[in-house]
Amino acid sequence: MQHVAVNPWVALAYLVAGVCFILALRGLSSPTTSQRGNRFGMIGMGIAVVTTLVTHVPTITVLVEGYDYAALLSAVDTLAVFEIVAAIALGAAIGITTARRIAMTAMPQLVAAFHSLVGLAAVLVAAAAFLNPVAFGIATPVLTPDGGFALINPVSRIEMGLGIAIGAITFSGSVIAFLKLNGNMGGAPILLPARHVINLSVLAAIIALVAYFTLDQNPWVFWTITALSFVIGFLLIVPIGGADMPVVVSMLNSYSGWAAAAMGFTLHNSAMIITGALVGSSGAILSYIMCRAMNRSFISVIAGGFGAATAAGGADAAKTDRPWKRGSAEDAAFLMSQAEQVVIVPGYGMAVAQAQHVLREMGDKLKAEGVRVKYAIHPVAGRMPGHMNVLLAEANVSYDEVFELEDINSEFAQTDVAFVIGANDVTNPAAKTDKTSPIYGMPVLDVEKAKTVLFVKRSMGGVGYAGVDNDVFYRDNTMMLLADAKKMVEEIVKALD
Ligand code: TAP
Repeated sequence: MQHVAVNPWVALAYLVAGVCFILALRGLSSPTTSQRGNRFGMIGMGIAVVTTLVTHVPTITVLVEGYDYAALLSAVDTLAVFEIVAAIALGAAIGITTARRIAMTAMPQLVAAFHSLVGLAAVLVAAAAFLNPVAFGIATPVLTPDGGFALINPVSRIEMGLGIAIGAITFSGSVIAFLKLNGNMGGAPILLPARHVINLSVLAAIIALVAYFTLDQNPWVFWTITALSFVIGFLLIVPIGGADMPVVVSMLNSYSGWAAAAMGFTLHNSAMIITGALVGSSGAILSYIMCRAMNRSFISVIAGGFGAATAAGGADAAKTDRPWKRGSAEDAAFLMSQAEQVVIVPGYGMAVAQAQHVLREMGDKLKAEGVRVKYAIHPVAGRMPGHMNVLLAEANVSYDEVFELEDINSEFAQTDVAFVIGANDVTNPAAKTDKTSPIYGMPVLDVEKAKTVLFVKRSMGGVGYAGVDNDVFYRDNTMMLLADAKKMVEEIVKALD
Protein backbone atom coordinates (compact mmCIF):
# COMPACT_ATOMS: atom_id res chain seq x y z
CA MET A 1 0.00 0.00 0.00
CA GLN A 2 1.20 3.49 -0.76
CA HIS A 3 -0.24 6.99 -0.24
CA VAL A 4 0.49 9.73 -2.72
CA ALA A 5 1.52 12.88 -0.82
CA VAL A 6 -0.10 16.23 -1.64
CA ASN A 7 2.34 18.46 -3.51
CA PRO A 8 3.06 21.41 -1.15
CA TRP A 9 3.21 23.83 -4.11
CA VAL A 10 -0.29 22.83 -5.14
CA ALA A 11 -1.53 23.36 -1.58
CA LEU A 12 0.18 26.77 -1.50
CA ALA A 13 -1.27 27.79 -4.88
CA TYR A 14 -4.76 26.82 -3.76
CA LEU A 15 -4.27 28.74 -0.52
CA VAL A 16 -3.28 31.86 -2.48
CA ALA A 17 -6.34 31.38 -4.70
CA GLY A 18 -8.52 31.08 -1.57
CA VAL A 19 -7.07 34.31 -0.13
CA CYS A 20 -7.75 36.05 -3.48
CA PHE A 21 -11.40 34.92 -3.30
CA ILE A 22 -11.74 36.29 0.23
CA LEU A 23 -10.23 39.61 -0.91
CA ALA A 24 -12.63 39.55 -3.86
CA LEU A 25 -15.64 39.27 -1.54
CA ARG A 26 -14.20 41.99 0.66
CA GLY A 27 -13.77 44.27 -2.38
CA LEU A 28 -17.28 43.57 -3.66
CA SER A 29 -18.78 44.83 -0.41
CA SER A 30 -18.44 48.45 -1.58
CA PRO A 31 -18.91 50.07 -5.01
CA THR A 32 -15.62 51.97 -4.65
CA THR A 33 -13.59 48.78 -4.25
CA SER A 34 -15.71 46.46 -6.39
CA GLN A 35 -13.47 46.60 -9.47
CA ARG A 36 -10.47 45.65 -7.34
CA GLY A 37 -12.56 42.86 -5.83
CA ASN A 38 -13.42 41.55 -9.29
CA ARG A 39 -9.75 41.57 -10.26
CA PHE A 40 -8.83 39.55 -7.16
CA GLY A 41 -11.56 37.07 -8.10
CA MET A 42 -10.18 36.72 -11.62
CA ILE A 43 -6.60 36.26 -10.37
CA GLY A 44 -7.73 33.65 -7.82
CA MET A 45 -9.70 31.74 -10.43
CA GLY A 46 -6.77 31.95 -12.87
CA ILE A 47 -4.41 30.47 -10.24
CA ALA A 48 -6.90 27.72 -9.36
CA VAL A 49 -7.52 26.73 -12.99
CA VAL A 50 -3.83 26.72 -13.98
CA THR A 51 -2.84 24.73 -10.87
CA THR A 52 -5.56 22.18 -11.54
CA LEU A 53 -4.47 21.86 -15.17
CA VAL A 54 -0.81 21.46 -14.31
CA THR A 55 -1.50 18.83 -11.67
CA HIS A 56 -4.19 17.02 -13.63
CA VAL A 57 -3.28 13.42 -12.81
CA PRO A 58 -5.45 10.79 -11.17
CA THR A 59 -4.78 10.57 -7.45
CA ILE A 60 -4.73 6.92 -6.52
CA THR A 61 -4.42 6.82 -2.77
CA VAL A 62 -4.35 3.06 -2.32
CA LEU A 63 -2.46 0.64 -4.55
CA VAL A 64 -3.05 -3.12 -4.46
CA GLU A 65 -0.53 -5.47 -6.01
CA GLY A 66 -1.78 -7.60 -8.88
CA TYR A 67 -4.83 -5.43 -9.51
CA ASP A 68 -5.68 -4.53 -13.11
CA TYR A 69 -5.50 -0.72 -12.93
CA ALA A 70 -5.28 -0.38 -16.70
CA ALA A 71 -8.89 -1.48 -17.05
CA LEU A 72 -10.17 0.87 -14.35
CA LEU A 73 -8.18 3.83 -15.58
CA SER A 74 -9.01 3.25 -19.23
CA ALA A 75 -11.58 6.03 -19.16
CA VAL A 76 -9.08 8.51 -17.77
CA ASP A 77 -7.13 10.45 -20.30
CA THR A 78 -4.65 12.32 -18.14
CA LEU A 79 -3.31 14.29 -21.04
CA ALA A 80 -6.64 15.53 -22.35
CA VAL A 81 -5.26 19.06 -22.20
CA PHE A 82 -6.52 19.89 -25.65
CA GLU A 83 -10.07 18.94 -24.69
CA ILE A 84 -9.84 20.94 -21.46
CA VAL A 85 -8.47 24.04 -23.18
CA ALA A 86 -11.11 23.74 -25.93
CA ALA A 87 -13.85 23.50 -23.28
CA ILE A 88 -12.47 26.56 -21.44
CA ALA A 89 -12.27 28.53 -24.73
CA LEU A 90 -15.84 27.58 -25.66
CA GLY A 91 -17.16 28.43 -22.19
CA ALA A 92 -15.27 31.75 -22.17
CA ALA A 93 -16.64 32.66 -25.62
CA ILE A 94 -20.22 31.94 -24.49
CA GLY A 95 -19.65 33.82 -21.22
CA ILE A 96 -18.15 36.92 -22.86
CA THR A 97 -20.84 37.10 -25.56
CA THR A 98 -23.65 36.68 -23.03
CA ALA A 99 -22.18 39.24 -20.62
CA ARG A 100 -21.86 41.82 -23.43
CA ARG A 101 -25.37 41.31 -24.76
CA ILE A 102 -27.40 40.91 -21.59
CA ALA A 103 -29.60 43.81 -20.51
CA MET A 104 -29.16 44.82 -16.88
CA THR A 105 -32.86 44.14 -16.27
CA ALA A 106 -32.40 40.53 -17.41
CA MET A 107 -29.52 39.90 -14.99
CA PRO A 108 -31.52 37.90 -12.39
CA GLN A 109 -32.57 35.26 -14.93
CA LEU A 110 -29.03 35.09 -16.33
CA VAL A 111 -27.69 34.44 -12.84
CA ALA A 112 -30.35 31.73 -12.37
CA ALA A 113 -29.33 30.12 -15.67
CA PHE A 114 -25.65 30.13 -14.68
CA HIS A 115 -26.44 28.59 -11.29
CA SER A 116 -28.26 25.77 -13.00
CA LEU A 117 -24.98 24.99 -14.79
CA VAL A 118 -23.04 24.94 -11.49
CA GLY A 119 -25.59 22.46 -10.11
CA LEU A 120 -25.38 20.33 -13.23
CA ALA A 121 -21.57 20.37 -13.08
CA ALA A 122 -21.69 19.06 -9.50
CA VAL A 123 -24.06 16.28 -10.61
CA LEU A 124 -21.82 15.33 -13.55
CA VAL A 125 -18.63 15.33 -11.44
CA ALA A 126 -20.34 13.16 -8.81
CA ALA A 127 -21.57 10.79 -11.53
CA ALA A 128 -18.07 10.60 -13.03
CA ALA A 129 -16.59 9.87 -9.59
CA PHE A 130 -19.21 7.18 -8.98
CA LEU A 131 -18.61 5.51 -12.34
CA ASN A 132 -14.80 5.55 -12.08
CA PRO A 133 -13.96 5.94 -8.38
CA VAL A 134 -10.40 4.58 -8.59
CA ALA A 135 -9.43 7.34 -10.98
CA PHE A 136 -10.66 9.86 -8.40
CA GLY A 137 -8.67 8.18 -5.62
CA ILE A 138 -11.77 7.49 -3.55
CA ALA A 139 -11.95 3.69 -3.77
CA THR A 140 -10.12 0.59 -2.70
CA PRO A 141 -9.87 -2.01 -5.47
CA VAL A 142 -11.20 -5.39 -4.34
CA LEU A 143 -10.03 -8.56 -6.10
CA THR A 144 -12.66 -11.19 -6.87
CA PRO A 145 -12.42 -14.38 -8.91
CA ASP A 146 -14.13 -12.71 -11.87
CA GLY A 147 -11.90 -9.63 -11.92
CA GLY A 148 -12.67 -7.12 -9.19
CA PHE A 149 -14.51 -3.98 -8.32
CA ALA A 150 -13.82 -0.65 -6.66
CA LEU A 151 -15.09 -0.29 -3.12
CA ILE A 152 -15.83 3.43 -2.63
CA ASN A 153 -14.78 4.82 0.77
CA PRO A 154 -17.85 5.39 2.96
CA VAL A 155 -16.86 9.02 3.67
CA SER A 156 -16.56 9.69 -0.06
CA ARG A 157 -20.00 8.17 -0.55
CA ILE A 158 -21.46 10.69 1.89
CA GLU A 159 -19.68 13.57 0.12
CA MET A 160 -20.80 12.23 -3.24
CA GLY A 161 -24.39 11.71 -2.06
CA LEU A 162 -24.59 15.24 -0.66
CA GLY A 163 -22.87 16.73 -3.72
CA ILE A 164 -25.27 15.06 -6.13
CA ALA A 165 -28.33 15.88 -4.01
CA ILE A 166 -27.49 19.58 -3.59
CA GLY A 167 -26.28 19.82 -7.20
CA ALA A 168 -29.49 18.30 -8.61
CA ILE A 169 -31.69 20.50 -6.38
CA THR A 170 -29.71 23.55 -7.54
CA PHE A 171 -30.09 22.52 -11.17
CA SER A 172 -33.83 21.91 -11.31
CA GLY A 173 -34.58 24.77 -8.88
CA SER A 174 -32.54 27.22 -10.97
CA VAL A 175 -34.20 26.11 -14.19
CA ILE A 176 -37.63 26.86 -12.67
CA ALA A 177 -36.34 30.20 -11.30
CA PHE A 178 -35.02 31.06 -14.78
CA LEU A 179 -38.34 30.16 -16.45
CA LYS A 180 -40.31 32.25 -13.95
CA LEU A 181 -38.01 35.27 -14.13
CA ASN A 182 -37.81 35.09 -17.92
CA GLY A 183 -41.59 35.01 -18.23
CA ASN A 184 -41.70 31.51 -19.80
CA MET A 185 -43.65 30.37 -16.76
CA GLY A 186 -46.21 32.39 -14.79
CA GLY A 187 -44.77 34.19 -11.77
CA ALA A 188 -47.69 33.19 -9.55
CA PRO A 189 -47.02 30.53 -6.92
CA ILE A 190 -48.08 27.02 -8.01
CA LEU A 191 -49.43 25.46 -4.84
CA LEU A 192 -49.78 21.68 -5.06
CA PRO A 193 -52.17 20.06 -2.59
CA ALA A 194 -50.36 18.60 0.45
CA ARG A 195 -47.12 20.07 -0.89
CA HIS A 196 -45.46 20.31 2.52
CA VAL A 197 -46.09 16.62 3.21
CA ILE A 198 -44.80 15.67 -0.24
CA ASN A 199 -41.70 17.90 0.10
CA LEU A 200 -40.85 16.66 3.57
CA SER A 201 -41.32 13.02 2.50
CA VAL A 202 -39.07 13.44 -0.55
CA LEU A 203 -36.42 15.24 1.54
CA ALA A 204 -36.57 12.52 4.21
CA ALA A 205 -36.20 9.84 1.51
CA ILE A 206 -33.12 11.62 0.09
CA ILE A 207 -31.48 11.88 3.53
CA ALA A 208 -32.25 8.21 4.28
CA LEU A 209 -30.84 7.11 0.92
CA VAL A 210 -27.64 9.16 1.38
CA ALA A 211 -27.20 7.38 4.74
CA TYR A 212 -27.95 3.98 3.16
CA PHE A 213 -25.46 4.73 0.37
CA THR A 214 -22.64 4.44 2.94
CA LEU A 215 -23.64 0.78 3.45
CA ASP A 216 -24.53 -0.16 -0.10
CA GLN A 217 -22.93 1.40 -3.18
CA ASN A 218 -25.40 -0.23 -5.52
CA PRO A 219 -26.09 2.03 -8.54
CA TRP A 220 -29.86 2.11 -7.86
CA VAL A 221 -29.19 3.98 -4.60
CA PHE A 222 -27.03 6.57 -6.34
CA TRP A 223 -29.42 7.15 -9.24
CA THR A 224 -32.51 7.25 -7.00
CA ILE A 225 -30.88 10.00 -4.89
CA THR A 226 -30.19 11.86 -8.14
CA ALA A 227 -33.73 11.51 -9.48
CA LEU A 228 -35.42 12.45 -6.18
CA SER A 229 -33.16 15.49 -5.84
CA PHE A 230 -34.09 16.74 -9.31
CA VAL A 231 -37.75 16.34 -8.32
CA ILE A 232 -37.43 18.14 -4.96
CA GLY A 233 -35.60 21.08 -6.62
CA PHE A 234 -38.63 21.47 -8.86
CA LEU A 235 -41.14 21.00 -6.00
CA LEU A 236 -39.39 23.51 -3.75
CA ILE A 237 -39.29 26.32 -6.30
CA VAL A 238 -42.66 26.10 -8.12
CA PRO A 239 -44.65 27.29 -5.07
CA ILE A 240 -42.53 30.44 -4.74
CA GLY A 241 -44.04 33.56 -6.25
CA GLY A 242 -42.20 35.97 -8.54
CA ALA A 243 -41.81 38.47 -5.69
CA ASP A 244 -39.49 36.19 -3.76
CA MET A 245 -37.64 34.86 -6.79
CA PRO A 246 -34.51 37.03 -6.45
CA VAL A 247 -34.10 35.74 -2.88
CA VAL A 248 -34.47 32.23 -4.27
CA VAL A 249 -31.80 32.90 -6.90
CA SER A 250 -29.43 34.04 -4.17
CA MET A 251 -30.35 30.97 -2.09
CA LEU A 252 -29.69 28.68 -5.06
CA ASN A 253 -26.36 30.44 -5.46
CA SER A 254 -25.64 29.40 -1.90
CA TYR A 255 -26.71 25.79 -2.60
CA SER A 256 -24.44 25.64 -5.65
CA GLY A 257 -21.54 26.66 -3.39
CA TRP A 258 -22.27 23.86 -0.92
CA ALA A 259 -22.58 21.36 -3.80
CA ALA A 260 -19.15 22.46 -5.08
CA ALA A 261 -17.68 22.21 -1.56
CA ALA A 262 -19.02 18.66 -1.16
CA MET A 263 -17.50 17.68 -4.51
CA GLY A 264 -14.24 19.36 -3.46
CA PHE A 265 -13.98 16.80 -0.66
CA THR A 266 -14.58 13.97 -3.12
CA LEU A 267 -11.94 15.30 -5.50
CA HIS A 268 -9.50 16.13 -2.66
CA ASN A 269 -9.39 19.64 -4.08
CA SER A 270 -8.94 22.27 -1.36
CA ALA A 271 -9.55 25.18 -3.78
CA MET A 272 -13.01 23.79 -4.53
CA ILE A 273 -13.75 23.32 -0.84
CA ILE A 274 -12.70 26.89 0.01
CA THR A 275 -14.49 28.45 -2.97
CA GLY A 276 -17.62 26.37 -2.44
CA ALA A 277 -17.80 27.31 1.23
CA LEU A 278 -17.29 31.01 0.41
CA VAL A 279 -20.04 30.95 -2.24
CA GLY A 280 -22.31 28.93 0.04
CA SER A 281 -21.98 31.19 3.05
CA SER A 282 -21.97 34.52 1.17
CA GLY A 283 -25.07 33.45 -0.81
CA ALA A 284 -26.86 32.53 2.43
CA ILE A 285 -25.91 35.86 4.04
CA LEU A 286 -27.08 37.80 0.97
CA SER A 287 -30.41 35.94 0.95
CA TYR A 288 -30.87 36.77 4.61
CA ILE A 289 -30.11 40.47 4.01
CA MET A 290 -32.54 40.58 1.07
CA CYS A 291 -35.27 38.90 3.13
CA ARG A 292 -34.78 41.43 5.90
CA ALA A 293 -34.86 44.38 3.49
CA MET A 294 -38.09 43.04 1.93
CA ASN A 295 -39.60 42.08 5.27
CA ARG A 296 -39.87 38.42 4.23
CA SER A 297 -39.27 35.47 6.51
CA PHE A 298 -36.02 33.76 5.53
CA ILE A 299 -37.31 30.34 6.60
CA SER A 300 -40.55 30.79 4.62
CA VAL A 301 -38.66 31.55 1.45
CA ILE A 302 -36.15 28.71 1.63
CA ALA A 303 -38.75 26.21 2.80
CA GLY A 304 -40.56 26.84 -0.45
CA GLY A 305 -43.92 28.47 -0.55
CA PHE A 306 -44.66 28.71 3.15
CA GLY A 307 -46.61 31.95 3.42
CA ALA A 308 -47.03 32.12 -0.34
CA ALA A 309 -50.63 33.13 0.12
CA THR A 310 -49.45 36.53 1.33
CA ALA A 311 -46.64 36.84 -1.19
CA ALA A 312 -46.64 40.06 -3.14
CA GLY A 313 -46.83 40.01 -6.88
CA GLY A 314 -48.04 43.21 -8.39
CA ALA A 315 -51.53 41.86 -8.93
CA ASP A 316 -53.81 44.71 -7.89
CA ALA A 317 -53.47 48.00 -9.61
CA ALA A 318 -54.02 51.20 -7.67
CA LYS A 319 -57.67 52.11 -7.91
CA THR A 320 -58.41 55.44 -6.34
CA ASP A 321 -60.12 58.75 -7.13
CA ARG A 322 -58.11 60.81 -4.66
CA PRO A 323 -56.92 64.17 -5.99
CA TRP A 324 -53.32 64.55 -7.09
CA LYS A 325 -51.19 67.26 -8.73
CA ARG A 326 -49.58 66.96 -12.13
CA GLY A 327 -46.42 68.85 -12.99
CA SER A 328 -44.37 69.41 -16.14
CA ALA A 329 -40.68 69.13 -16.94
CA GLU A 330 -40.43 72.93 -16.77
CA ASP A 331 -41.99 72.96 -13.27
CA ALA A 332 -39.52 70.31 -12.14
CA ALA A 333 -36.55 72.14 -13.66
CA PHE A 334 -37.59 75.39 -11.96
CA LEU A 335 -38.13 73.79 -8.53
CA MET A 336 -34.86 71.89 -8.60
CA SER A 337 -32.76 74.78 -9.86
CA GLN A 338 -34.03 76.88 -6.92
CA ALA A 339 -33.23 74.16 -4.37
CA GLU A 340 -30.31 73.97 -1.99
CA GLN A 341 -30.40 70.18 -1.86
CA VAL A 342 -31.99 67.64 -4.24
CA VAL A 343 -32.06 63.95 -3.32
CA ILE A 344 -32.61 61.61 -6.25
CA VAL A 345 -34.31 58.28 -5.47
CA PRO A 346 -33.91 55.82 -8.35
CA GLY A 347 -35.93 52.61 -8.66
CA TYR A 348 -36.86 49.85 -11.04
CA GLY A 349 -38.48 52.25 -13.55
CA MET A 350 -35.16 54.06 -14.03
CA ALA A 351 -33.59 50.72 -14.94
CA VAL A 352 -36.41 49.89 -17.38
CA ALA A 353 -36.16 53.30 -19.05
CA GLN A 354 -32.33 53.22 -18.97
CA ALA A 355 -32.49 56.79 -17.70
CA GLN A 356 -29.28 56.69 -15.63
CA HIS A 357 -27.06 58.56 -18.14
CA VAL A 358 -29.43 61.47 -18.70
CA LEU A 359 -30.12 61.49 -14.95
CA ARG A 360 -26.40 62.03 -14.29
CA GLU A 361 -26.47 64.82 -16.86
CA MET A 362 -29.37 66.42 -14.96
CA GLY A 363 -27.41 66.09 -11.70
CA ASP A 364 -24.36 67.74 -13.31
CA LYS A 365 -26.45 70.67 -14.55
CA LEU A 366 -28.00 71.18 -11.11
CA LYS A 367 -24.56 71.04 -9.47
CA ALA A 368 -23.36 73.66 -11.96
CA GLU A 369 -26.15 75.89 -10.65
CA GLY A 370 -24.93 75.42 -7.08
CA VAL A 371 -27.47 72.76 -6.01
CA ARG A 372 -26.24 69.96 -3.71
CA VAL A 373 -27.21 66.66 -5.38
CA LYS A 374 -27.33 63.30 -3.62
CA TYR A 375 -28.58 59.86 -4.65
CA ALA A 376 -30.47 57.70 -2.12
CA ILE A 377 -30.27 53.94 -2.64
CA HIS A 378 -32.69 51.52 -1.03
CA PRO A 379 -31.20 48.03 -0.54
CA VAL A 380 -33.94 46.37 -2.64
CA ALA A 381 -34.62 49.13 -5.17
CA GLY A 382 -34.84 47.56 -8.62
CA ARG A 383 -34.88 43.84 -9.01
CA MET A 384 -31.53 42.59 -7.79
CA PRO A 385 -29.04 43.47 -5.07
CA GLY A 386 -26.96 46.49 -6.01
CA HIS A 387 -29.11 47.12 -9.13
CA MET A 388 -29.15 50.90 -8.70
CA ASN A 389 -25.49 51.11 -7.65
CA VAL A 390 -24.44 49.30 -10.83
CA LEU A 391 -26.53 51.55 -13.09
CA LEU A 392 -25.34 54.76 -11.43
CA ALA A 393 -21.73 53.57 -11.61
CA GLU A 394 -22.26 52.79 -15.31
CA ALA A 395 -23.37 56.42 -15.76
CA ASN A 396 -20.25 57.63 -13.88
CA VAL A 397 -22.13 59.07 -10.93
CA SER A 398 -19.53 59.84 -8.29
CA TYR A 399 -19.54 57.35 -5.38
CA ASP A 400 -19.49 60.12 -2.80
CA GLU A 401 -22.88 61.34 -4.04
CA VAL A 402 -24.45 57.91 -3.50
CA PHE A 403 -25.88 57.14 -0.05
CA GLU A 404 -27.43 54.04 1.49
CA LEU A 405 -30.85 54.23 3.16
CA GLU A 406 -29.58 54.41 6.73
CA ASP A 407 -27.13 57.20 5.87
CA ILE A 408 -29.56 59.48 4.03
CA ASN A 409 -32.97 58.88 5.56
CA SER A 410 -32.57 61.50 8.27
CA GLU A 411 -31.73 64.11 5.58
CA PHE A 412 -35.08 64.17 3.78
CA ALA A 413 -36.52 66.55 6.37
CA GLN A 414 -33.85 69.11 5.38
CA THR A 415 -34.16 68.41 1.65
CA ASP A 416 -35.89 70.82 -0.73
CA VAL A 417 -36.69 68.33 -3.49
CA ALA A 418 -36.88 64.53 -3.41
CA PHE A 419 -36.77 63.43 -7.06
CA VAL A 420 -38.23 59.90 -7.19
CA ILE A 421 -37.57 58.30 -10.55
CA GLY A 422 -39.18 54.92 -11.27
CA ALA A 423 -39.18 53.94 -7.60
CA ASN A 424 -42.39 53.16 -5.79
CA ASP A 425 -42.49 50.49 -3.06
CA VAL A 426 -39.22 51.68 -1.54
CA THR A 427 -40.82 55.06 -0.82
CA ASN A 428 -44.23 53.84 0.34
CA PRO A 429 -45.04 55.09 3.87
CA ALA A 430 -47.60 52.27 4.24
CA ALA A 431 -44.60 50.11 5.11
CA LYS A 432 -44.35 52.14 8.32
CA THR A 433 -48.01 52.51 9.20
CA ASP A 434 -50.31 49.96 7.55
CA LYS A 435 -50.09 46.55 9.20
CA THR A 436 -52.22 45.00 6.45
CA SER A 437 -49.85 46.12 3.69
CA PRO A 438 -47.71 43.37 2.08
CA ILE A 439 -44.68 45.61 2.54
CA TYR A 440 -45.39 46.42 6.21
CA GLY A 441 -42.15 46.36 8.18
CA MET A 442 -39.87 46.99 5.19
CA PRO A 443 -37.60 49.98 5.89
CA VAL A 444 -38.43 52.73 3.36
CA LEU A 445 -36.97 56.04 2.22
CA ASP A 446 -38.82 58.90 3.94
CA VAL A 447 -39.23 60.98 0.75
CA GLU A 448 -42.53 62.50 1.93
CA LYS A 449 -40.58 64.51 4.52
CA ALA A 450 -38.89 66.60 1.81
CA LYS A 451 -40.35 70.06 1.08
CA THR A 452 -41.37 68.91 -2.40
CA VAL A 453 -41.56 65.42 -3.87
CA LEU A 454 -41.29 65.06 -7.65
CA PHE A 455 -42.53 61.59 -8.62
CA VAL A 456 -41.65 60.27 -12.09
CA LYS A 457 -43.69 57.32 -13.36
CA ARG A 458 -45.71 56.58 -16.47
CA SER A 459 -49.26 56.53 -15.14
CA MET A 460 -51.28 56.82 -11.95
CA GLY A 461 -52.56 53.26 -12.45
CA GLY A 462 -49.15 51.60 -12.60
CA VAL A 463 -48.06 49.98 -9.37
CA GLY A 464 -44.75 48.72 -8.10
CA TYR A 465 -43.65 45.19 -7.38
CA ALA A 466 -45.81 44.78 -4.29
CA GLY A 467 -48.89 45.84 -6.23
CA VAL A 468 -50.03 48.47 -3.75
CA ASP A 469 -50.98 52.13 -4.02
CA ASN A 470 -48.61 54.76 -2.65
CA ASP A 471 -50.00 57.53 -0.41
CA VAL A 472 -47.13 59.87 -1.39
CA PHE A 473 -48.78 60.42 -4.85
CA TYR A 474 -51.67 62.25 -3.19
CA ARG A 475 -49.83 64.41 -0.67
CA ASP A 476 -49.93 68.20 -0.91
CA ASN A 477 -46.17 68.44 -1.32
CA THR A 478 -46.08 65.93 -4.22
CA MET A 479 -46.06 66.73 -7.92
CA MET A 480 -46.52 63.82 -10.31
CA LEU A 481 -44.40 63.86 -13.49
CA LEU A 482 -46.16 61.29 -15.64
CA ALA A 483 -43.96 60.06 -18.51
CA ASP A 484 -41.30 57.54 -19.37
CA ALA A 485 -38.42 58.24 -17.01
CA LYS A 486 -35.82 58.83 -19.71
CA LYS A 487 -38.09 61.13 -21.75
CA MET A 488 -39.07 63.15 -18.68
CA VAL A 489 -35.47 63.67 -17.56
CA GLU A 490 -34.41 64.59 -21.10
CA GLU A 491 -37.09 67.28 -21.08
CA ILE A 492 -35.99 68.50 -17.64
CA VAL A 493 -32.40 68.75 -18.91
CA LYS A 494 -33.64 70.82 -21.88
CA ALA A 495 -35.63 73.04 -19.54
CA LEU A 496 -32.57 73.51 -17.32
CA ASP A 497 -30.64 74.72 -20.38
P1 TAP B 1 -41.24 49.28 -7.84
O1 TAP B 1 -41.91 49.42 -6.55
O2 TAP B 1 -41.35 48.00 -8.57
O3 TAP B 1 -41.82 50.46 -8.75
C1 TAP B 1 -41.38 50.68 -10.03
C2 TAP B 1 -42.06 51.93 -10.53
O4 TAP B 1 -41.46 52.30 -11.74
C3 TAP B 1 -43.54 51.78 -10.77
O5 TAP B 1 -44.21 52.75 -10.04
C4 TAP B 1 -43.72 52.02 -12.28
O6 TAP B 1 -44.91 52.77 -12.45
C5 TAP B 1 -42.46 52.80 -12.61
N1 TAP B 1 -41.96 52.57 -13.97
C6 TAP B 1 -41.82 51.42 -14.63
N2 TAP B 1 -41.31 51.62 -15.84
C7 TAP B 1 -41.10 52.96 -15.95
C8 TAP B 1 -40.59 53.80 -16.98
N3 TAP B 1 -40.19 53.33 -18.15
N4 TAP B 1 -40.52 55.12 -16.73
C9 TAP B 1 -40.94 55.63 -15.56
N5 TAP B 1 -41.43 54.89 -14.56
C10 TAP B 1 -41.51 53.56 -14.76
O7 TAP B 1 -39.70 49.63 -7.77
P2 TAP B 1 -38.80 49.97 -6.53
O8 TAP B 1 -39.34 51.13 -5.78
O9 TAP B 1 -37.42 50.01 -7.08
O10 TAP B 1 -38.97 48.74 -5.55
C11 TAP B 1 -38.42 47.49 -5.81
C12 TAP B 1 -39.44 46.45 -5.48
O11 TAP B 1 -38.96 45.20 -6.00
C13 TAP B 1 -39.64 46.26 -3.99
O12 TAP B 1 -40.98 45.91 -3.72
C14 TAP B 1 -38.73 45.10 -3.68
O13 TAP B 1 -39.11 44.38 -2.53
C15 TAP B 1 -38.90 44.27 -4.94
N6 TAP B 1 -37.78 43.37 -5.14
C16 TAP B 1 -36.52 43.85 -5.13
C17 TAP B 1 -35.47 42.98 -5.26
C18 TAP B 1 -34.07 43.49 -5.20
S1 TAP B 1 -32.95 42.53 -4.62
N7 TAP B 1 -33.78 44.69 -5.60
C19 TAP B 1 -35.71 41.65 -5.45
C20 TAP B 1 -37.03 41.21 -5.50
C21 TAP B 1 -38.05 42.09 -5.36
P3 TAP B 1 -45.58 52.93 -13.90
O14 TAP B 1 -45.90 51.57 -14.35
O15 TAP B 1 -46.78 53.78 -13.66
O16 TAP B 1 -44.60 53.61 -14.77
